Amino acid sequence: MADVRPDSMERITTPELARAFIDEQLAALRAQIGDKKVLLALSGGVDSSVVAAMLIKAVGKQLTCVHVNHGLLRKGEPEQVVNVFGKELGANLVYVDATDRFLNKLEGVTDPETKRKIIGGEFIEVFAEEARKLDGIDFLAQGTIWPDILESEAGIKAHHNAGGLPEDMKFELVEPVRILFKDEVRIVGKELGLPDNMVFRQPFPGPGLGVRCPGAITRDRLEAVRESDAILREEFEKNGLAGKVWQYFTVVPDFKSTGVKNGKRTFDWPCIIRAINTTDVMEVTVEHLSDELIDHLVQRIISEVPGINRVLFDYTPKPPATVEYE
Ligand code: XMP
Repeated sequence: MADVRPDSMERITTPELARAFIDEQLAALRAQIGDKKVLLALSGGVDSSVVAAMLIKAVGKQLTCVHVNHGLLRKGEPEQVVNVFGKELGANLVYVDATDRFLNKLEGVTDPETKRKIIGGEFIEVFAEEARKLDGIDFLAQGTIWPDILESEAGIKAHHNAGGLPEDMKFELVEPVRILFKDEVRIVGKELGLPDNMVFRQPFPGPGLGVRCPGAITRDRLEAVRESDAILREEFEKNGLAGKVWQYFTVVPDFKSTGVKNGKRTFDWPCIIRAINTTDVMEVTVEHLSDELIDHLVQRIISEVPGINRVLFDYTPKPPATVEYE
């Protein structure tokens, strides 16, 4: 499997081609895994969700999915993972709410790279702890896709999470979507019956809302990021922008300014809206929203999100600004 390359197959552009790929992979997964057990870190992102859905079809209860909620996910995401995989698809799902553990470790940490390292390191630790509780696991499944392989070959980033597991934890890898590109994974996910808001989800960084709560993360400011993000996503959905704009989110920076509400002085954070388009993420342009939508977003965010008294829009392309703030 490991030496198979994308040019060995026709690109998946239709539901029929996705179906043929799924049938082929289900047979290959059954042949590889036999009656052994498989473990999967299920983030709720497109790639790991598609791998989970394939493995549930191929080997059912021989798969155990572990969903680590690091407390930095978007509103509704952990619940959706539990509903779709635990309830609807009947997977063996271990749900770990590690929010306190992550937020305690991150308390007072301001440096962006240190924050990322803490989140990544803690994730591996929690996952490894859960894996040790399970008996007789031989395989580790991963949602590695072809761009991950290319990036790791080019030395840009080490692909995926298995890389960091402790030395004594040795698993054989199961990577059923490794020769696919993102758009193909989405077609396969749709064919597997996963919900649209999971399959067509916008990119979301591994450190989650942690990089959108710049500086030292506090629970109240993190909540303001999560609530404002949920409002933005709801309004983009309502206004037909959800599938059109490549990525959009909010950031709540760590400073306050004076405002006034109901005749009383406030001293609260601003909320920054970012909405961008791109093809390769090296260069991005800004999506200009209508005045009407901006006005509506300002109204909703300032009235519904505690701690926010201004809303700003980020008009900066990349370069010079990166997409995320940290
Ligand atoms: P930047 O900020 O580098 O972001 O312009 C480019 C794209 O990558 C996403 N991003 C990440 N994705 N882990 C990820 O899986 C990360 O640590 C990470 N950091 C940034 C970002 O959301 C944007 O789509």
